[in-house]
Amino acid sequence: MSDPGTDAELHARRASSFGDQASAYARHRPDYPRAALEWGMSGANRPVRDVLDLAAGTGKLTEGLVDLGRAVTAVEPDPGMLAELSWRLPDVPALLGKAEDIPLPDESADAVFVGQAMHWFDLAAAFAQIRRVLRPGGAMVALWNHEDESVPWVREFARLIRTDINRGFADSGQTLRADGFGPFEQDRFAHTHRRSIDSLLATVGTHSHLLIASADERDRLLAEARAYLETVPEAGTGEFDYPLVTTVLRARRR
Ligand SMILES: C[S@@+](CC[C@H](N)C(=O)[O-])C[C@H]1O[C@@H](n2cnc3c(N)ncnc32)[C@H](O)[C@@H]1O
Repeated sequence: MSDPGTDAELHARRASSFGDQASAYARHRPDYPRAALEWGMSGANRPVRDVLDLAAGTGKLTEGLVDLGRAVTAVEPDPGMLAELSWRLPDVPALLGKAEDIPLPDESADAVFVGQAMHWFDLAAAFAQIRRVLRPGGAMVALWNHEDESVPWVREFARLIRTDINRGFADSGQTLRADGFGPFEQDRFAHTHRRSIDSLLATVGTHSHLLIASADERDRLLAEARAYLETVPEAGTGEFDYPLVTTVLRARRR
């Protein structure tokens, strides 16, 4: 049986593992489909003008929200990630802070978006804080990009690189409950990420379980993944569209 103390420590190390690789993260992680952002926003029953991007990282999701013409504020606990965001998006107000203690006033946002990060939160504390900063009728929206495992070679690749933690969370999302919110709704959107074998392996290298792995373990897993990709016809000709699915959860603040 696993030791809960060790599990909690591992979770915390993974949650805070991203900052040292902030520029690789910004270069190699995918963005989110516009339709997914629009579906999330339509969960609000009020006009969506002020948007909080919580756990904003280097601004992958922030940029899509800005492109939709919203007034976006970014909150992120890792100084390295936040510095990268501010360098890329100098006009976006960017604050250091955590989901469990959001540095914004009550009822200051029409929507709170969380990209690829809700699984790192202490959910009860984070939901209470998100509720506090949302205006009545505002939407809480969580998104995850995953391998599209309906494609056989992608399913095998996903197994090799062990993308585990956030997949399970996103898929169990409809059983989530948050006090002061209506029920969670879920939808999925097809997405792709333009990659080569080298850049896809660079993307995998920004996943938290590899960021905290030993150099030997990391090299071994990436070598196995490369050997596999070199046998895949779809991946063997320079650049290709790596198939992803974006899962979105949304719930409306009462
Ligand atoms: C996988 S990155 C996602 C970044 C960005 N949202 C994106 O879509 O690319 C996860 C982010 O969650 C942040 N994070 C981890 N624990 C957090 C917490 N308790 N509150 C807020 N952010 C947290 C990390 O610092 C990291 O930047």
